[in-house]
Amino acid sequence: MQIRPIVLLKGSATFIPGVTRFACSGSGGTNSTRYCYSAWLRHLVRLHDAGIRTQFESVAELGPGDSLGIGLAAMLTGADRYFAFDAIPHARTSSNVRTLECLVGLFKARQNIPGDDEFPEIWPPIPSQHFPGAVLDNGHLQQSMAPARLDAIRAAVALGVRDHVEVRYFAPWNEASVVETGSVDLVFSQAVLEHVEDIDATYDALFQWLRPGGVMSHQIDFRSHSLTRDWFGHWTVPGWLWRIVKGRRPYLINRLPASKHLESMRRHGFDIVQQMPQTAVAAKRNELASEFGDLTDDDLRTSALYVIARKPLSASRT
Ligand SMILES: C[S@@+](CC[C@H](N)C(=O)[O-])C[C@H]1O[C@@H](n2cnc3c(N)ncnc32)[C@H](O)[C@@H]1O
Repeated sequence: MQIRPIVLLKGSATFIPGVTRFACSGSGGTNSTRYCYSAWLRHLVRLHDAGIRTQFESVAELGPGDSLGIGLAAMLTGADRYFAFDAIPHARTSSNVRTLECLVGLFKARQNIPGDDEFPEIWPPIPSQHFPGAVLDNGHLQQSMAPARLDAIRAAVALGVRDHVEVRYFAPWNEASVVETGSVDLVFSQAVLEHVEDIDATYDALFQWLRPGGVMSHQIDFRSHSLTRDWFGHWTVPGWLWRIVKGRRPYLINRLPASKHLESMRRHGFDIVQQMPQTAVAAKRNELASEFGDLTDDDLRTSALYVIARKPLSASRT
């Protein structure tokens, strides 16, 4: 069997009242400031290289995890409004405040982008680890990190809003309507969309939030997150067994392959601007559970995907 016994045990344990809370604690990399800095600059560089204008006034992030650091990095490079949406409130104001100060230091020093020697799993890949001066020149950073602006960001992290600067954290979130329709320039996520339970409702919300012409930038990991022996082992587990593995956790991994994400994005009206797949040894079709019989040949070898998509300019704001 592909499923590790400890994984089954953990899933079963969540049926015991009170245990679910512990099964969902801790969320990934954003407790490290350098990870946040690296992740944001990777999205920014990829967007710039795809020919997208990277002056984002309003930014939304799905699943920030342990801190709002990636979004705070976006604010330090110019965004005035940042909305973060998580299934669980992992982030604390105290760690956000600390992370912000460390990020200021990294940007002031124009530090190189931390690479896969430091964060072996971090994606998307970038052509150079040097600080991206062509995307963020000195004049731009002097403005975006002017003392008065830094003070406004600090205050907004603690209080939600200061002057025209806003930081909002919705965790959990259920209503797309908390953000004004057609008001966001960029939505991004890092290692999140593979966890989201209702992917259609989520892409629908992202489409609503974005202004016409607005873009989204997502890094999605399709691997089994070590729940199974092989990276694709989660696709060999039948539905009845997966229900035990997931237990009563609000999310685990949704097991959707790349093609289903792209299909859902297109169905909700997005134009795919760029797809950058990461490939691995192909899953064996004859080992898949019956519900995964429709995986495409590309799905079988796509272990991760970086994708940029755009809400068409012709889309209405409603
Ligand atoms: C692996 S962590 C990644 C966290 C962070 N982005 C990082 O790079 O470290 C996955 C995150 O997705 C969040 N998540 C799961 N389902 C979600 C949903 N429906 N909406 C928003 N966030 C969700 C989890 O709570 C968690 O914070």
